[in-house]
Amino acid sequence: MSQEQELGALAAEVAREAGELARTRRQQGVTLAATKSTLADIVTEADREVEALIRDRLLTARPHDGFLGEESGTAAGDSGITWVVDPIDGTVNYAYGIPAYNVSIAAVQGEPDPSRWEALAAAVHAPAVGETFTAARGHGAWLGGRRLEVTQETPAGALLATGFGYDPATHDGDLATVRRVMPIARDLRRMGSAALDLAYVAAGRLDGYFERGLAPWDLAAGALLVSEAGGIVTRVDTDSPRPLLIAGGPAVHARLTEILC
Ligand code: IPD
Repeated sequence: MSQEQELGALAAEVAREAGELARTRRQQGVTLAATKSTLADIVTEADREVEALIRDRLLTARPHDGFLGEESGTAAGDSGITWVVDPIDGTVNYAYGIPAYNVSIAAVQGEPDPSRWEALAAAVHAPAVGETFTAARGHGAWLGGRRLEVTQETPAGALLATGFGYDPATHDGDLATVRRVMPIARDLRRMGSAALDLAYVAAGRLDGYFERGLAPWDLAAGALLVSEAGGIVTRVDTDSPRPLLIAGGPAVHARLTEILC
């Protein structure tokens, strides 16, 4: 087994255990712990508890690795591998009982660094529907025993997804982007979970996805799923406060890049 596959197997095992904890806590009732940047940017007690479990399991298995988590921040390591973790991606869905949430775990090369998002291995586990998407660089993307492939859809026939930033000051810009994209595609979804949007592009359930301002824990695992499923993922405007992520099959990615960049 290659190092990438070993990291992927560990990510999947920990994501499943963490997902079970999230699902159980959901059944017991959600406690809002805090709002962060805005009213829509929430954190639940479960986000913190699930991240603590993930951090413990990963760093117990690999004590020299670094860690970069949405809720608990960074821990430096000296192995040259950092785990980039969103304990519950789609927290608003989770809080409202909508099943589109997931545990997202990626292993990236290097020390904790928010600008580093290209992963070696990844798992996105959606506990409410019992799906685990995994990828290891050079070894493909998988949903259980099924190897994933992005679609080869044309832009005009494409079902796309996007997301919006939490800061109301960004909404005009996001809506302007949506207005540019809607006329060239079949339809558009806003599911509220970036990692699942990307996993669904990898699985061919969506033809493309774009969003500005994503954090590394929102995108690192899902982006590897897309590229290992034969798709293209680019992050542009990286000097701006809200870089734009574009993912999809070749034709859809090219058209989105043409109209948004
Ligand atoms: C959010 C979700 C959402 C996306 C936001 C993310 P969170 O992550 O992925 O779909 O639009 O940009 O921050 O806060 O639920 O972990």
